[in-house]
Amino acid sequence: MKIAPSLLSADFGNLQHDIEMVNRSQADYLHLDVMDGVFVPNISFGFPVMKAVQKHSVKPLDVHLMIVNPQNYIGQVRDCGAEIMNVHQEACTHLHRTVQAIRAAGMRPAVTLNPATPVVMLEDIIEEVDMILLMSVNPGFGGQTFITQTIAKIRRLRRLIDSSSNKPLIEIDGGVNDRTAPLLREAGADILVAGSYVFSAPDPCQAILSLKNA
Ligand code: DX5
Ligand code: ZN
Repeated sequence: MKIAPSLLSADFGNLQHDIEMVNRSQADYLHLDVMDGVFVPNISFGFPVMKAVQKHSVKPLDVHLMIVNPQNYIGQVRDCGAEIMNVHQEACTHLHRTVQAIRAAGMRPAVTLNPATPVVMLEDIIEEVDMILLMSVNPGFGGQTFITQTIAKIRRLRRLIDSSSNKPLIEIDGGVNDRTAPLLREAGADILVAGSYVFSAPDPCQAILSLKNA
């Protein structure tokens, strides 16, 4: 299992300290949550902060844009060193064009679905993406309760991927902890995002390792 700690639950007064913890850990990515107060009812951080994060992170950056019009920021996300750029299906009128533009900019395109958006919405884009991110909480806040229907949704997505020639990874975001991680692995998840579980742990590196081995 791959793990992407979410910096949203880190100490924003000492990001370097928390990024260095992630560097030392067994994490596979560093997950960055960008919120605009329009697509989601919260505002997190933007490009200047991500540029600063890039300077310290040795882990590849997995950028999750919870913003309207993400297609307008592809160059800026790339300039922050993102390896993966996640855009919400619900935020993109021309999703196919946006996915193509992300790849043309040299990043790996990923499409994110809100909890209420069915996996069937991916049918005609699945051949084009490297990763699908299923939200297991409503986006906008860390520390929310895992939505249990996500388990059945992962199985439906796994079937859709099985019937496609492209094999995008399945990433899950929200309410990931030592209780939900084994269920997610069993259902077919490839990457788990975890914010509050990692950063509130007495030993965050150990928390990352325990999710990896869940
Ligand atoms: C929520 C963000 C998540 C958030 C997860 O909108 O997309 O990445 O950090 O937080 P936890 O792991 O605390 O649910
Ligand atoms: Zn996220």
